[in-house]
Amino acid sequence: MSAAIRVENVSKRYRLGVINRRMLYQDLQSRWARWRGQEDPHSKVGEKLRGNGENFWALDGINFEIRAGEVIGLIGGNGAGKSTLLKILSRITSPTKGRVCLKGSVASLLEVGTGFHPELTGHENIFLNGTILGMRQSEIRRKFDQIVDFAEVEQFIDTPVKRYSSGMYVRLAFAVAAHLSPEILIIDEVLAVGDARFQEKCLGKMESIAGEGRTILFVSHNMGAIRALCSRGILLREGRVVMDGSIDETITAYIGDNFASASSYEAKERPASPHFERITATQEPAAQGTFSIGQPLVVTFETNPCGKKDLTVGLVIRNSQGVWVQHSSDEFAAAKDPLATVSRCIIPPHALGPGKYHLDALLAKRNEEAYEHLVNALSFEIAFDGAMAARTHAADWKGACGPGLLLWE
Ligand SMILES: Nc1ncnc2c1ncn2[C@@H]1O[C@H](COP(=O)(O)OP(=O)(O)OP(=O)(O)O)[C@@H](O)[C@H]1O
Ligand SMILES: [Mg+2]
Repeated sequence: MSAAIRVENVSKRYRLGVINRRMLYQDLQSRWARWRGQEDPHSKVGEKLRGNGENFWALDGINFEIRAGEVIGLIGGNGAGKSTLLKILSRITSPTKGRVCLKGSVASLLEVGTGFHPELTGHENIFLNGTILGMRQSEIRRKFDQIVDFAEVEQFIDTPVKRYSSGMYVRLAFAVAAHLSPEILIIDEVLAVGDARFQEKCLGKMESIAGEGRTILFVSHNMGAIRALCSRGILLREGRVVMDGSIDETITAYIGDNFASASSYEAKERPASPHFERITATQEPAAQGTFSIGQPLVVTFETNPCGKKDLTVGLVIRNSQGVWVQHSSDEFAAAKDPLATVSRCIIPPHALGPGKYHLDALLAKRNEEAYEHLVNALSFEIAFDGAMAARTHAADWKGACGPGLLLWE
């Protein structure tokens, strides 16, 4: 299959002092701060890390090739360079070095505000975008109703898009990009602006576009959406490609980037409302951070109910793929004292496979109020023990639960 996108040695430098049409006084403040060896008050985050004061490399020597029909997830932390790369591919900005080759028509959905002319109505923008994509008027007319239906903006289709809310704007922009049958579809995080129902609808539409054999390059921080849609992943870190491989291994590497083990949590602030005092994961014999797959793991939640009764402790355990391996609560305890301030959850041997996990904790009153939701309250690793540790490799076992959970005869 031929390459739909080829990126050759692409680097992008932003020069301080000329970014984003800054005011003269901001330039002077930046130069003054640098001269005095202080931090530039107007620098964007990341510049400190990758710049030399004057120049800042948002992308640094990027190379990859995407074959026609591939669906790629571009992932990386904030400021990694994802949007900059998509802007270069969409020809909104040019690379400082290197070049990109694209074969076929490209529709892109980048930041809210790009792609549409604000003074033109939704109706006029649909025709403008179709024309830019090289479509005939009759073809655009044929797709027009589908676009308006999908975007659910019929009432406002003759209103200038500058009057749209950001959600409406993104709905129309996505509908245009998705229905005008581009050969290459480039989508940045913007979908997050839409509500959950619309996001799901967009993912469904992207799946059907992918099914028609079109090329999609998709940026999202939602690993569930990325995994559902993409077969290959490219991971950027500080403007460089650090991984290009199957979507599973790329997501694992990305989540591993942000992994720091913590087998206990201690409250720092103590609000007057119900909260967690302490959460700990323990095992016999004592272990820290890495636990054995063959022993029960006990998670103890100590709460301060601040006078409330009937509180529920809930947990979510996510693996390194972002999959919810467990979602449970102490309502499943055989008996529970409504005034209890300690809940204990016993994770049986092999309930979790070898790998890295995050645990989220929720303190709530069922169907009423959530008092505290701690994302990544604990982070820990599960590893093989005993003879199995010497004989096998964790990466060989891909199940969310440990392989010894099943009984073999
Ligand atoms: N016009 C600009 N001028 C100067 N620096 C910029 C400009 N646009 C982006 N940057 C910087 O380039 C780096 C990469 O930004 P980019 O927007 O590509 O990141 P990203 O991976 O899309 O991040 P996010 O996940 O937050 O969307 C950041 O450090 C950002 O501050
Ligand atoms: Mg971005």
